[in-house]
Amino acid sequence: MVDEKLKAEAARLRDDIERHNRLYYVLDAPEISDAEYDALFRRLQELEESYPELVTPDSPTQRVGAAPSDQFASVRHVYPMLSLGNAMDEDEAVAFDARVKRFLGTGESITYVAEPKLDGLSVELIYEDGVLVLGSTRGDGITGEEVTANLRTVRSIPLKLAGGLIPPLLEVRGEIFINKADFDLLNRQREKGGEEPFANPRNAAAGSLRQLDPAVTAARPLNSFFYAVGRVEGGAPRSQWELLDYMAGLGFKVNPLKRICEGIGPALDYYRDLLQMREGLPYEIDGMVIKVDRFDLRETVGSTSRSPRWAVAYKFPPQQARTVVEMIGVQVGRTGKLTPVAHLTPVRVGGVTVSRATLHNQDEVTRKDVRAGDTVIVQRAGDVIPEVVQVIREKRPKSTVPWVMPEQCPVCSAHVVRVEGEAAHRCTNIACPAQVKERIFHFASRGAMDIEGLGMRTVSQLVERGKVAVPSDLDSLTKEDLLDLDLYADKSAENLLKAIAGAKRSRTADRLLFGLGIPMVGRVGAKLLMGRFQTPADLVNASEEEMLRIHGVGPEIASQVRSFFQESGNLAEAEKLWNIFQPLPVSGSERDDLAGKIFVLTGTLDNYSRDEAKERIEALGGKVTGSVSRKTDYVVAGADPGSKLEKARELGVKVLTEKEFLKLIEK
Ligand code: IVH
Repeated sequence: MVDEKLKAEAARLRDDIERHNRLYYVLDAPEISDAEYDALFRRLQELEESYPELVTPDSPTQRVGAAPSDQFASVRHVYPMLSLGNAMDEDEAVAFDARVKRFLGTGESITYVAEPKLDGLSVELIYEDGVLVLGSTRGDGITGEEVTANLRTVRSIPLKLAGGLIPPLLEVRGEIFINKADFDLLNRQREKGGEEPFANPRNAAAGSLRQLDPAVTAARPLNSFFYAVGRVEGGAPRSQWELLDYMAGLGFKVNPLKRICEGIGPALDYYRDLLQMREGLPYEIDGMVIKVDRFDLRETVGSTSRSPRWAVAYKFPPQQARTVVEMIGVQVGRTGKLTPVAHLTPVRVGGVTVSRATLHNQDEVTRKDVRAGDTVIVQRAGDVIPEVVQVIREKRPKSTVPWVMPEQCPVCSAHVVRVEGEAAHRCTNIACPAQVKERIFHFASRGAMDIEGLGMRTVSQLVERGKVAVPSDLDSLTKEDLLDLDLYADKSAENLLKAIAGAKRSRTADRLLFGLGIPMVGRVGAKLLMGRFQTPADLVNASEEEMLRIHGVGPEIASQVRSFFQESGNLAEAEKLWNIFQPLPVSGSERDDLAGKIFVLTGTLDNYSRDEAKERIEALGGKVTGSVSRKTDYVVAGADPGSKLEKARELGVKVLTEKEFLKLIEK
């Protein structure tokens, strides 16, 4: 007989460990150190080892190492796990709304709950009297695989429900997935260990959950969100919104981006918001799910044998596509960097046609072993240049050869070198026409001097015909010079000259500095520098130490700026440009009270666009990030703020109204 005292201790340890698990994995708010946690865990293990009768199925020690099964038993879902109908565009989403209204016989707008559609695999968990007793995959929707032991290893899944009112029976449904960052790490580890990397986070999650040895699953960074229920006994919620709250109260992770939408219009707005957020989210989503909120209305609308009529998955356009590499070219950048570029058979990806994809550098080409003739998967993400993700090896034609960087610059034939410790190859000729073109093109670009009409084609011809070799030559261009080019007529030549003249005295000094194209000096760095050193002469004379005193300016930037101006040719050109363009001082230079402060913007502001607000904050020395964390100093909430506001309140981060924000930055 086990001593009652030990029994009580084990029970207390189980509860404590479960609570700390929840604090750590679900709420991201641990109360004890890892070492303290380990001590609790080890004590429980010791007790259970000495007295096996103390082991309970919901003990946290059972998350790992449960007896491996030879194969998975099948589980019949009591309520089938239906799939979702798809909407591929806005019209189809609107048609879904119309159908719901027709079934309800109403013209009034329907309240929906919209959620991100998670790209993982769905599972069902059964809790009896608050204890996890069975976990299964969706399978074909009718029968799934029994993977209880594996699901027990997922840290954010409660083994025991939290909260006061525990239902006698509860079946919850949700998604198991792997965060993008964890996926990258996992794949790097696998590659190091000589294992095949997973193709994407979804496959990695599925592969990890369907392991015969739960200890393997336990070592994988699986995560979860829950969004639905099967059977519930004992007072179920009456709407999706209530349900999500209810599940969160029981200890499940519920996606914080959920939104209540009055009618289809706001749901479509949410879709656009989600598309914007997609890149920055820590996990993969492939669309949005729209669900009728009220459960009684769902009854009326009903389901087909395959999917409910009260919900729809409005998918994002795919971000990846398959195409063929016709050849691999090399692009020379303004610093002489050689970038291999795959020239592709044009293909539609995420709504745009892609015909080029970057291969970054020689190491990347070698790692992925991309060859001319290969069939590849290309990916675009937001505004980022498309890239080749993977080669489909089975489709490789026989005669292909591995790609190597040319030894001579493809533009000027100068010798190509690879600087030690750098991934990049560089052309050694600073007068290389490609570099010259790129430098002038950069100087005129949107983020720099913003000279409209000075695109690559014009720059190319100007350089090739010897009319321009450095940016300051733009000042002496005449109408005749332009009319000499293939592209210009009277009007367009005048317009370009006007644009150049217009850039004088109307651009700020940071744009000019950025336009010089000093390595490492981006728009933000340029702004920080010119905010502190009001005149070009001050910057040129500044020591590295003085630059390092600016919050946000690191040693790489400081040393690049120093060595750039130490080169007499660079200095002379910079001074010429300063005299020609007479840039304005950077308004509102860095403020001590805002330097390094982290801002998050949510909702719409009346006085600024997102980009403008960001620029203002950065000019003052602050930083803008995409998501709220404990490190955030201010959340600026405009009209219709999103979930970031909730998160800020949860974490106790200071929230500013637009008025308060204006007061702060205009102080
Ligand atoms: S609700 C009856 N909500 O989508 C439908 N599903 O095509 C109940 N999914 O198998 C599902 N995120 O794996 C719902 N927020 C979400 C979801 C979601 C992803 C998946 C789920 C399901 C599939 C249906």
